[in-house]
Parts: sequence; structure tokens; C-alpha cells
Amino acid sequence: MELFDVYPLYNVTPVKAEAEYVWDEKGTKYLDLYGGHGVISVGHTHPKYVSAISNQLNNLGFYSNSIQNPLQKQLAKKLGELSGCENYNLFLCNSGAEANENALKLASFKTGKSRIISFNNSFHGRTSAAVAATDNKNINAPINLQQEVTFLPLNSIELVIREIGKGDVAAVIIEGIQGVGGLDEGTTDFFQEVEKLCKQHEVFLILDEIQSGYGRSGKFFAFQYHNIQPDIITTAKGMGNGFPIGGVLILDKHEAKFGMLGTTFGGNHLACAAAISVLDIIEEEQLMKNVNEVSTYFKEQIKSVSQVQKVKGNGLMLGVEFDFEVGELRKKLIFEKQIFTGGAMNKKLLRILPPLTMNKEQVDVFINALKEVL
Ligand SMILES: Cc1ncc(COP(=O)(O)O)c(C=O)c1O
Repeated sequence: MELFDVYPLYNVTPVKAEAEYVWDEKGTKYLDLYGGHGVISVGHTHPKYVSAISNQLNNLGFYSNSIQNPLQKQLAKKLGELSGCENYNLFLCNSGAEANENALKLASFKTGKSRIISFNNSFHGRTSAAVAATDNKNINAPINLQQEVTFLPLNSIELVIREIGKGDVAAVIIEGIQGVGGLDEGTTDFFQEVEKLCKQHEVFLILDEIQSGYGRSGKFFAFQYHNIQPDIITTAKGMGNGFPIGGVLILDKHEAKFGMLGTTFGGNHLACAAAISVLDIIEEEQLMKNVNEVSTYFKEQIKSVSQVQKVKGNGLMLGVEFDFEVGELRKKLIFEKQIFTGGAMNKKLLRILPPLTMNKEQVDVFINALKEVL
């Protein structure tokens, strides 16, 4: 059997990793400024994370969601405390798309409506409603067209007023900071106006923090820059540092009903052990403080690269924009300088999504490499 060939691949084969580095099968060491799509939060193979998962596996790896699982409660409590979202309840699933799918479904259950408002250049995943709410026709199949989605430009509040006013909207879904699209984001005024409109019209405000959450933006969730309270927050990527897990945080005024949502694997013992250890490490090692310090340093140092047009994003969710497409630049950074970076829908943008443990020396290594390659 061959693999179903859906991914264009770089010819690199990582076999080992530690902290901010990965090694290929020939022993070549790479600096990881991409964290495997913004997934690696506390660093590769962090010893505490590895031992938490190993210990759990030795005790109980999996049982279904029809028994007591105290690890889920422990995870919910810790996540509430660290994120400042104690007035939310947690539903656990396995991936980002699944988190958004459940969020949209819940909004539709609760409002009895079905239209979604999403934004240009958004990415919310590849399942039924999540992909329909994603602004990319190439990844929507005819079966996904059954969903009613209206795409609006970011920061055009008049258009949101017009659409919500029609009375058939279940949810507005928006990324804290756009990831795949290219690091654009709503202004504080925009987020606050959208929140107000959603409240007035009983529409669910869903904040997709799958990429921008878990400390990556310098706050636990990127929407916390805007002083708003979404109805639902979705998380995944950094939550398990590579172990598949997703979360739907639901404002506690929205009540659950048995059977409303469900999953076989979501919230299993191993995933919870991984996610609890991630939160412990974020707290113990003060990683959000590190994110802010290293981000400030990065933004300062990158000014010395004359070809850079603009730096977008917050914390260690950064986009470096040029006036040319960056495909070749990314290849050179990998094969000549052994540095992983990311691309975006905006082809002129280099995406920087390192582990939250990245340090200033590694910023210097990147800036020097970038100058040499340019
Ligand atoms: C903002 C955002 N939402 C949703 C997803 C989908 O997550 P997953 O690939 O885990 O389904 C992604 C993945 O890149 C994302 O960046």
C-alpha cells in the first residue's frame, strides 16, 4: 500500500528532537521556528511531559467517556485557572477542526439557527462545518456546500451589523489572530463591537484560538488583548505539545444536555496527562513571560533586516512580510541554514511559530541566517 499523496513534502526526515531543535536521520541539527504548525508549545520531548505521558501509559492509557475520569476535571480546573476563564466549562475532543465543528454545532443547537458568519482568509479546519467556514474553495467539496456561511472582510463592522440584523445567524467565528491566512487580526474596536452585536441578537461568538491560544500570543488567549468574553473558545495545537487533543470552552451560562456532544477518544487518559503537564510546564517555567520578552527582542532585531516590509502578529505567533514570495527563502533557510519556518496563504509572509521556550540567542541565529540568505 502507498500513502494517499495529499502533502507536498520537504525532503527532511526528523528522527529525534529536544527543546527547540530536531535532528534528521543523518544527524543534521535544525532550529525549529515552526513547531510543526505551531503545535510544540513547551518544547520537544520536555522531560516532565515525557514522564507524565509514560507514567500514565503504564497505569491506564484509555477508557471510554462513560466512566469517571478525574484527569479531565483536573485539566479543566488547571486550564480555567491559568487562562483566567474559570467561568467556562470544558468539552474535550481530538483536534482543532473537531473543536470548531463542536462549537458551531453547539451554537446551532442553542440558537436553533444555522447561518455562520466567518471572515476572509480564515482557516477553521477540514471537517464539515469547520471547512465550510474556512475561506478556501479548494478544500471545500460539494458536500460541504450545504452549510450556510457568509464571509466578510475583517474589521468591516457595518457588514457584520447588516448580516446579523437578518436574524438567521447562529454564530460568528473568528480567529484570535489569523494563522494560515497570514497573521491579520481584528482591531479591539471590531472585536468589542462584534461581541456587543452577538449579545444583542443572541448569536454565539466563537473565538478560534486553536493556533493563537495557549500563551502563543503573549496572553493565554489572543482575544484577551481586546477585553471581550466569547461564548465559546476553541483550542488545540499547543494544548498537547504534539499529543492530539482539542478543547471547547463554553461560557457557563450555556447549559449542557446529555448526549448533545460526544466522542470516543476525546479527553482520554493519555491526552489529559499530556495536556496537564503542558499547563504545569507553562506555569512553572513562566513561558508566557518568556514569549513576551523574546517577541519584543525579535521585533527589535528584525528591524535590521532591510528587506522586511512589515512584522505582523503578537508574542511568538509572528509573520515577517517581504515584497516577494518566500517559497525559495524558506527552502534556503532549511537546506543552507538548517532552520524551519512556515508559509501562509499570503505567499509573501514567513511564519514564525517556535516553541514558547525559544530564547534570544536563537533569535540572533535566525536574523543572521536570514541576512545571509537574503
Ligand atoms: C486557527 C485554526 N483553526 C483550526 C485549525 C484546524 O486544526 P486541526 O488541523 O487540528 O484540525 C487550524 C489548523 O491549522 C488553525 O490554525
